[in-house]
Amino acid sequence: MGRDFVYVILGGGVAAGYAALEFSKRGISRGDLCIISEENVAPYERPALSKGFLFPEDPARLPSFHTCVGANEERLTPKWYKEHGIELVLGTRVKSADVRRKTLLTAAGETINYKILIIATGARALKLEEIGVNGSNAENVCYLRDLADAIRLVSVMQSCVGGNAVVTGGGFIGMECAAALIMNKINVTMVFPAAHCMDRLFTPKIASFYEDFYKSKGVKFIKGTVLSSFENDSSGKVKAVILQDGTRLPADMVMVGIGSRPNTSLFEGQLTLEKGGITVNGRMQTSNSSIYAVGDVATFPVKLFGDLRRLEHVDSARKSARHAVAAIMAPDKTGDFDYLPFFYSRTFTLSWQFYGDNVGQVVHYGDYSGKSFGAYWINKGKLVGSFLEGGTKEEYEAIAKVTRLQPVVAAIAELERKGVGFALSV
Ligand code: FDA
Repeated sequence: MGRDFVYVILGGGVAAGYAALEFSKRGISRGDLCIISEENVAPYERPALSKGFLFPEDPARLPSFHTCVGANEERLTPKWYKEHGIELVLGTRVKSADVRRKTLLTAAGETINYKILIIATGARALKLEEIGVNGSNAENVCYLRDLADAIRLVSVMQSCVGGNAVVTGGGFIGMECAAALIMNKINVTMVFPAAHCMDRLFTPKIASFYEDFYKSKGVKFIKGTVLSSFENDSSGKVKAVILQDGTRLPADMVMVGIGSRPNTSLFEGQLTLEKGGITVNGRMQTSNSSIYAVGDVATFPVKLFGDLRRLEHVDSARKSARHAVAAIMAPDKTGDFDYLPFFYSRTFTLSWQFYGDNVGQVVHYGDYSGKSFGAYWINKGKLVGSFLEGGTKEEYEAIAKVTRLQPVVAAIAELERKGVGFALSV
């Protein structure tokens, strides 16, 4: 009973799009592959949702940012899937999985059978209720994970021009949305518990550059506290945010970016999980040899660090997806995934890239009052991480290369003096 496919990709996000392209490059028969997605659009480049999609002028809209344009590859429109005989089962949530029977059951009651499954269910936005704050279902409280959220956010922003927004969370989503809100002429107060923004990656010195830049654009920061409740008007809309320290902030809208959680629940108790994700080996294969996991949901061995990591970044989603397909289609020619972690962000006129690991001693370099500066992380005598703001293509390539090489650093002062020149000289 049900429909049969050789390959099924569960989830229709970034990883799914790149996996589909890799399958088609390697040659699959029509009708072999199906992608099941809760979203009702074909896979797209999710980072666009907090960038171009939110611009007040000339915003990015589908089909312009379907995968795989983010890696300068073909843009896979719904027509492309049709032409390649790849079934897109959209607007469909899988509600249970049976790894022994190799079946998935959709919310509509359909059974889909696979020979090989790729789990690409990504992550979901953490809700305020999960940290003990109620009321996030009010119409002017926004999250941002998928296209539906982004469409809603745009409409809420349009109704708040000239008003006040409270952004809760100082990570990627909070920072990128705060910038977009300012561009949309909305006053922004950012609230987060840490001592500085992007605290899992940035050093205080790096963070202070971005906070100062944001302040120059009008953003206010309230740090070291969290949102504790909302004040609502008679229609249920939030009109003020109350912080744990008692501060009351009038708000026409609230943007929540407090973190995410990997979508693993369908497989809990059926597959091995570690570090919050589904454990895979260097071939992206789970504890069940017919099942692979890629993207945000996968906990994979990072050879360079000699440990397991789960990364929620687009480059890792793209590359892990391609690697899984290579391992499936050409098992003898595919070694272990050898990934250099890479994160980036762009806001206002700023743009930074980070490679590697942010552990050990930090060496800052460059002009922190200007727009070209960076940092290296040195652990156990070796360079293990590199950050650069405002770099050129060659400079970014150079910091990626040097981070992968992990050179021994004899003289810290020289690194500081040479700055990005050190990477360019390696
Ligand atoms: P992704 O989340 O893309 O896709 C998962 C898919 O699975 C979704 O379509 C979901 O609906 C579907 N799904 C889940 N459960 C399902 C079920 N039970 N049944 C059916 N379908 C199901 N990274 C970066 O490096 N730089 C950046 O600038 C940004 N910017 C950025 C902005 C925003 C707004 C977000 C939300 C995220 C980013 N990221 C980022 C992170 C990046 O987008 C993320 O790492 C990738 O999208 C992960 O790709 P996946 O395919 O793993 O999940």
